[in-house]
Amino acid sequence: MSTTVRSFAKINLGLAIGPGRPDGFHSLTTLYQTIAVHDLVTVEARPAGAASIVLTSDDGRVPLDERNTAFKSVKLALESKRAGVKGVGAEVRIHINKRLPVQGGLGAGSANAVAALIGLERELRAHCVTPLSGPERLRIAAQVGSDVPLFLIGGAVLGVGRGEEVYPMPDLPVTLCVVALPEIGVSTPQAFRDWDARHDSSQGGGLTEATGSDRLNVLSRALASALCDPYSSGVFQEDLAAKTVRPAGLFAGANPLHALVRTGIENDFEEVVFPQNPLFGEIKRVLAGPEDPEVAALYVSLSGSGSALFGLYGSQDAAASAVARLDGMGVRSLLTETMPRERYWRSLIEGISD
Ligand code: C5P
Repeated sequence: MSTTVRSFAKINLGLAIGPGRPDGFHSLTTLYQTIAVHDLVTVEARPAGAASIVLTSDDGRVPLDERNTAFKSVKLALESKRAGVKGVGAEVRIHINKRLPVQGGLGAGSANAVAALIGLERELRAHCVTPLSGPERLRIAAQVGSDVPLFLIGGAVLGVGRGEEVYPMPDLPVTLCVVALPEIGVSTPQAFRDWDARHDSSQGGGLTEATGSDRLNVLSRALASALCDPYSSGVFQEDLAAKTVRPAGLFAGANPLHALVRTGIENDFEEVVFPQNPLFGEIKRVLAGPEDPEVAALYVSLSGSGSALFGLYGSQDAAASAVARLDGMGVRSLLTETMPRERYWRSLIEGISD
């Protein structure tokens, strides 16, 4: 028996970089959003005399040892004081079927870590092994990487701290998304260093606690106001009149994504990554499209530290024309859509999906 888990990607709807922290990380605020493109992670596990993990992949660029995020999360789970296999061990085989770029700002490696954890627990449950508690799972995920815990929530997720402190947000309506995949490598630690260097010289002594925190607060306020916009725009009263009760933040005819875009959300990494290659700016313009509201993107941004960029679109025609424009300039792309939380969880395990 084995369990195959869909390992979905994410984009960032706004990302503000704050001050550097004593642990070498940066404070940040971001709204993560899961999208429907995915890798496949297959896990086979059974209790055994000692713990062993064997990792394989169809993609030669995927590390097969402790550097791999899926390897790390499974190892930490087997070592966890709370895991039922502690002291007994388990024999674990993981196979990663790679469909997403290895280093693209789409969180693919981070999602693999959560998919492997979910696969492991499902496999061991068949042998009556006690599952991890929710908080323990989140702790392990944060230990593997800053943008791993978001995949234990799915949908629209607020990320603060170094990105690992996550909160579920009201879901945004399913929206078409075109992801552009330029063949440019971007190193996340280097992008953070470039950010520091840029702000060191432009502000005479670094991004101070106050200015850095201001950036985070600006984005937090934008997210909070956009996600409650349907209430504050008067739609709430109309709904009260109709005596209907709806899920928080989701009102007919009011798309919180539009409100979010109106706040002017940005990804701070664009400031340091775009000057490194003119292709980034060109792709952003191409994703944005002509002024015509029928085909123009609702929102375009770099995802994480890149190199992937994405556009969100209001119609299939608008998204298809963005794919065609990227094709014309020789840039590979993926046409997908945003994935709300419930659908994310329903689709996670292959074979029991919608
Ligand atoms: O957490 P993760 O392993 O993804 O981080 C990779 C690197 O990116 C860190 O070692 C650090 O240099 C940088 N980073 C950061 N601030 C964050 C997240 C990552 O400086 N909030």
